[in-house]
Amino acid sequence: MSVKSAALAALASAYELNGLEAAPSIVRSTRPEFGDLQCNDLMRLAKFGRKNPRLLAAEVAEAARGALFEDVSVAGPGFINFRLTDAAVAAEATTMLADTSLAAEKTEPIRTVIDFGGPNVAKALHVGHLRSFVIGESLRRILVEIGHDVLSDIHLGDWGLQMGKLLLGAAQAAGWKAGDPIPFIGPSAFEGMTVEELGALYKSGNAACEDETSLAHARMLTTKLQDGDPLLAESWARMRAISLASIAATVGMLGAHFDLFKGESDAHSEVAPMLDDLTARGLARKSDGALVIDVSGDGLPDNVPPLLLQKRDGAALYGTTDLATLRQRVRDIGAQQIVYCTDDRQALHIASVFSVARTAGYADGVELRHVTFGTVRGNDGKPFKTRDGSAASLDDMINLALAKSSEKVADSQAATAVGLGALKFADLSTPRKTGYVFDIDRMISFEGRTGPYLQYAYARICSILDKAAEAGIVPEETVSISHPSERAVLMECLWYPHALSEAARQLESFEIADRAYQVADAFSRFYTDCPVLKAEDPSGRLATCKLVERVIGKCLELLGMTPVRRM
Ligand code: ARG
Repeated sequence: MSVKSAALAALASAYELNGLEAAPSIVRSTRPEFGDLQCNDLMRLAKFGRKNPRLLAAEVAEAARGALFEDVSVAGPGFINFRLTDAAVAAEATTMLADTSLAAEKTEPIRTVIDFGGPNVAKALHVGHLRSFVIGESLRRILVEIGHDVLSDIHLGDWGLQMGKLLLGAAQAAGWKAGDPIPFIGPSAFEGMTVEELGALYKSGNAACEDETSLAHARMLTTKLQDGDPLLAESWARMRAISLASIAATVGMLGAHFDLFKGESDAHSEVAPMLDDLTARGLARKSDGALVIDVSGDGLPDNVPPLLLQKRDGAALYGTTDLATLRQRVRDIGAQQIVYCTDDRQALHIASVFSVARTAGYADGVELRHVTFGTVRGNDGKPFKTRDGSAASLDDMINLALAKSSEKVADSQAATAVGLGALKFADLSTPRKTGYVFDIDRMISFEGRTGPYLQYAYARICSILDKAAEAGIVPEETVSISHPSERAVLMECLWYPHALSEAARQLESFEIADRAYQVADAFSRFYTDCPVLKAEDPSGRLATCKLVERVIGKCLELLGMTPVRRM
């Protein structure tokens, strides 16, 4: 049992003794000089029971005393401060050290689908995808770590209007001009094509769609494709394969893991029966020739527009494929929880899909969660762009980080880990909703709250442990406390299981990033204050180092970073 759980149990029985019928809560002390843990309940409980809060707090504090605490005291208007005994801290640290999962509280496994990345065929990956890949992958790891049964799905954008635009771009390249009859482009047009060439086709097709007639052509091509035209289907498969190969390379570089490389197109077979079902049950209705479904629900504005399921020309839309995919995930994969990672501009779209899924009974008993995140900004505070004003490509951002890190780290493997880690840590070291400024020099710095700082701290601890091993000194299996700075770093480690639980509960990797930083920071103070290899008892202090190494290493992994033992 963690010290926090043990303290809660002590407090619960103190509440009972005092006739208080509330569940106690304990937080970490904001003022460590007063104690390690703190309970702020009593002011509220006293008000409720018309008692003097300080007196009530004193009675509870008295009843909560026990072997776990060196001191339980009342401060201010009725806060209770708990100082753990060194023995309790050391015992819990010892438990963590012996446990491969570092005393993490595992949950009942829930079948979870996590949908992140969401790149689109033939469109370049950009800064927005960076966040979805980084946050999604970290949350995937966190959910696995607490014991869920997780499947990740990249949910490729491979079925919408951009496919029609792409086909139109290919037609243009083959000599088609606005005004000509609608061209059907066969697969040979994409023979040996690079992803850059494909991207160029999309750009020109998209530009052509400024013109209404061309846009109508692109729509028509999209509908034909969705209707199963064999020639277009083959062309589509070629384009998708070219794009996917390049996406997979970037995803591989970023170290994101996908169990499923499915796309919007995979929901296609589901669309017609789903629309029939929704229509037959009177849920979907015709509006202006299109098929729509009303959206309502908790937290949604009153005037939220209906979700468009099918256009007049029969084309399925983004919401349609999302709904159909959701239904498949529940029915075919047995998803009990589905997590979507997109930027906050898709909040209404995702909320609408959730609302319809609930109304239609497609998600009974299923937890649907939308993980949103804010925008990456440039130094000017506006959404991050390259110098020429276009959205920065993800590959360029990765290459920039790698170039900068190889200036600082000689070993090439370590440089890759540090460069990518810098990008990831910058993304995860603030609460995801806030967004952040993309400042490569700050991200890649070895000072401050950065990825390189953490990786360097980790490598330094590893080098201490390696040196000890070379000298034949074995870390103690029991952790002990020889100095206040040692106690402080152990306290930071003890908070790891709570950080993990909170990260999973709130789907917030920042909890882990912050924990890693606090541990590393406390470790550097410990290391300044306390010699390790030259200590009288190196084995004892090595146990602390070992635990710190394990906690930071685990946090880095949960953030999707690669811990490097040497740089
Ligand atoms: N492809 C979409 C886009 O680029 C993102 C997909 C997000 N996932 C989802 N299930 N809607 O905007």
